Amino acid sequence: MRKNLVSTPGWHAAWLPDDAFAPLGRRVVAVSAPPDAGPVAATVVAEVRAAVDRFGGRLLTASVDDGPAPALVLALAPDAGLPAEGFAVARTGGTTRVTAADEAGLLYGLFHVVRLGEGAFDDALVPGSHAPAHAVRMLDHWDNVDAHDVMGQVERGYAGGSIFYEDGALRPDLTRVGAYARLLAASGVNRVTVNNVNVHRTEARLLTDRLGDVVRLADQFRPWGIRVHLAVSFGAPLTLGGLGTCDPLEPAVADWWADAAARVYAAIPDFGGFLVKADSEGQPGPFAYGRDHADGANVLARALAPYGGTVHWRAFVYNHHQDWRDRRTDRARAAYDHFTPLDGKFDENVVVQVKFGPLDFQVREPVSPVLTAMPRTRLALELQVTQEYTGQQKHVYYLPEQWSEVLGWEPWADGRTVSDVARDVVAVSNVGDDRFWTGHPLAQANLYGFGRLAWDPTLTPSDLLDEWTRLTFPGADPRVQDVLRDVVLGSRATYEQYTAPLGVCFMVGPGHYGPGVDFYEYSPWGTYHFADRDGIGVDRTVASGTGYAGQYPEPWASTYESLDTCPDELLLFFHHVPYTHVLRSGKTVVQHVYDTHTDGAARTEEMARRWEDLDGLVEPDLFDRVRTLLAEQVRSAGEWRDQVRTYFWRHSGVPDERGGPLY
Ligand code: GCU
Repeated sequence: MRKNLVSTPGWHAAWLPDDAFAPLGRRVVAVSAPPDAGPVAATVVAEVRAAVDRFGGRLLTASVDDGPAPALVLALAPDAGLPAEGFAVARTGGTTRVTAADEAGLLYGLFHVVRLGEGAFDDALVPGSHAPAHAVRMLDHWDNVDAHDVMGQVERGYAGGSIFYEDGALRPDLTRVGAYARLLAASGVNRVTVNNVNVHRTEARLLTDRLGDVVRLADQFRPWGIRVHLAVSFGAPLTLGGLGTCDPLEPAVADWWADAAARVYAAIPDFGGFLVKADSEGQPGPFAYGRDHADGANVLARALAPYGGTVHWRAFVYNHHQDWRDRRTDRARAAYDHFTPLDGKFDENVVVQVKFGPLDFQVREPVSPVLTAMPRTRLALELQVTQEYTGQQKHVYYLPEQWSEVLGWEPWADGRTVSDVARDVVAVSNVGDDRFWTGHPLAQANLYGFGRLAWDPTLTPSDLLDEWTRLTFPGADPRVQDVLRDVVLGSRATYEQYTAPLGVCFMVGPGHYGPGVDFYEYSPWGTYHFADRDGIGVDRTVASGTGYAGQYPEPWASTYESLDTCPDELLLFFHHVPYTHVLRSGKTVVQHVYDTHTDGAARTEEMARRWEDLDGLVEPDLFDRVRTLLAEQVRSAGEWRDQVRTYFWRHSGVPDERGGPLY
């Protein structure tokens, strides 16, 4: 129990401290897999061997069948009819048996046993089969090889530098990448994109003369069942190939991509595919040649198809040179308008990757209607683990509370969910070379929660938090779990309370941190709230606004269209209303803003006080890091509270009936 108070050198063990393996490591464990089963099966054997060596148990392999009866058998059974990456667990006669469909299933079965702890060896163990809900569970790294002038080594990264690259090159020592791959595998992630979607000059060459770097990264991920993808520049045939064009319908361009793919697969036979941000925020794309995004995506898809690779093609396409005076153009409409007419035109190995909301990873947005309107296209849901707009890993913001809402949302209110519609689930990583991986140690729970939810979207955020806590702090004082629940659960709602209200979005300052109520109001980015002396919000109705509400299927189109039925939390996303408009909660908009900002900021003070109860119960450096960050969260929440409340007061002239300070 004291052991987890000792800090490890180098980097924090996150959810795989040695002690998490104690229940398994104390026992006799048999791994039954042919010696040539592959690198992932070899990993399983190595993991079990390390655990039993550490804790005094014993490993039996298929070739050894004498000796004591095993407490755990991990067996590869390709003919057992289990789904890919799946496994079944059962316990009879004092032996827990994990039967796996394939190597990856064996590894996931092992980590399942680790998660269960002593429970895995309890006769009350509930037998069952487990398989991922989503075949592709991918993390995208927005890491640059060359640090970018403005965005740095990791774009929107809040945890230090890249664990892959440093000083314009791949790191010579990739040990930490291997440790990362192990953590990801234990959470269920099976794909990683190794570079930023904004592909700059040096990074574009990862596809060509820097391919050796990708090979070395793939070598680190492969033993953990993780396939590597690469973000590529649509302009590569022009900028790297010297073709003078990247027109997707030009045969020489198609040949260039086919050659590039052939070279990649010769070096990395299990390569996953390409990720593309095209015609978006300055990245090149098919529009320059009068082609559409299906033309663009398909030329890459055809290059990858012979090898089983996929193109993840992002739907984040909008006009980022908008005139704020133009009230008819609505950025929220853009992805739907560009992509849904192309439904059915994408090749089978194209995945259209859609941000969960129509804008940009805001605290509160409706789910993107693109996800409801492309039944003949393979879709990926894109989430953001990195906390760009959600507190930048200085604030506690428990993202599974947002994600499970998104994954479980029913576009047709008929039981079918977003999780059913999106084949792949993807998220932007929050990891850097920080000792705690994620800057804020509690942001580890977001990374862990992403993998687990991508595997099983029905897991509840609170169960996931407990699971993460048990693994990360094995054998800890029960108060650790209590405090973590108090600090972490509900943190998404708290952040929403003290920041942009009622779905209005983008009230952020420079760098997307801290309040900036009007910072984006006259910008070219299409991010407006239209506050004046009478009211606030964006009219996106069909009747009188931009028509965005009409992009939804029923019942949501009518629900969002009508002031009577629009959910309060999205009111200002869909409607422009007077400050005195009465919400479904019974409060006026302005009083809601006053109250939630006061209460949300007060709640951060409670969170900081509660954290103090863990002094001496968790590692001192982890305790101190969270303490320091909570102090910043309290400061920042107070700034948000005072600026937003004062802004609404100055614009509306309505006093706060609770009488809090206004400036
Ligand atoms: C946001 C973010 C950018 C990023 C972009 C994207 O706009 O601020 O840094 O490049 O999303 O998702 O492509």
